[in-house]
Amino acid sequence: MKDIYILGIETSCDETSASIVKNGNEEIATVVLSQIDIHKDFGGVVPEIASRHHVKNITIVIEECLEKANMEINQIDGIAVTYGPGLVGSLLVGVEAAKTLAYANNIPLIPVNHMSGHIYANELEKPLEFPLIALVISGGHTELIYMKDHYNFEKIGGTLDDAVGECYDKVARIVNVPYPGGPTIDRWAYEGKDTYSLSLPLNDDSYNFSFSGLKSAVINLVHNEKQRGNEIRKKDLAASFQNTVIEIITKKTMRALKDYQVNHLIIAGGVAANKVLRERLMELCQKENISFSCPSIQHCTDNAAMIAASGYHAYLLGHRADLTLNPQSSLELANQKAVNNKE
Ligand code: KG4
Ligand code: ZN
Repeated sequence: MKDIYILGIETSCDETSASIVKNGNEEIATVVLSQIDIHKDFGGVVPEIASRHHVKNITIVIEECLEKANMEINQIDGIAVTYGPGLVGSLLVGVEAAKTLAYANNIPLIPVNHMSGHIYANELEKPLEFPLIALVISGGHTELIYMKDHYNFEKIGGTLDDAVGECYDKVARIVNVPYPGGPTIDRWAYEGKDTYSLSLPLNDDSYNFSFSGLKSAVINLVHNEKQRGNEIRKKDLAASFQNTVIEIITKKTMRALKDYQVNHLIIAGGVAANKVLRERLMELCQKENISFSCPSIQHCTDNAAMIAASGYHAYLLGHRADLTLNPQSSLELANQKAVNNKE
């Protein structure tokens, strides 16, 4: 069979990225230009600034990627682009670049959901095995997805308010850690002790999550300690917060695997880079004879290799978009086929 090369383009938030992936799992070249340092001063991503930087960088990133791969654009079989969910102005830059390249070079244009990209980052490690449960945890999402087959997404649970990564970043901000604070909280938690008492949020029989109450509990705890003149033990607070988050996430994920009689768990998204969460899930899965897969750390946070990996399967399934493709900031994973499948 002929080798298939997909060029992935990702601009949904604050990373401008392009990647070429062969046959859905072999990363040939990837370029990721992060804007984290630019947004740090504002304590989060400023949408208008993000889109302006994407505009400035998109052509450079795509050209550099082709150069790194030592390939010409006419060797590309499909251009996969993130068209949602994300910041609409940021998404627009990637979508317009992909449409222009596809049209000018007569290459199929493949619409990819950002969350599907996070899930397919796992294929860069090993092939997905079905049926599976995917725990997708990022700065914007916290979802449990049941997949019977490729591109068959059934959302069985999600957050009712803040996403888990968002909660990490907000808790980090309370203790003066710059955006994005997740990795620092993760590091501190590893060194600290779970000594602060925080209750498990939405500890019920659903597969849903809620993190805004936990965030408020941490804010109140910090204020109360300050009022009493007590010093906050930041590492212990990080450990207490992280243990609470991980306990509720692992509890609901393991129950979903049991209820759906599924033997394969994958995790995805920026928070999947969390060291303790990875270790804990690996242990629990081993005990239950469940296979566990997580992307490499650099493929957990936003990158275009995951978009190309997902785009490969979309390409095989015949998903195509034409020049009317528009970004959709609140695109749902389950709706993808209905919204944008041009066969
Ligand atoms: O997937 P991603 O790069 O962007 C979105 O699609 O949202 O995820 C970024 C999120 C941020 O909230 C960041 O703090 C969090 O992932 N994150 C972590 C870790 N590394 C990144 N959270 C906890 N532990 C980590 N090691
Ligand atoms: Zn993401």
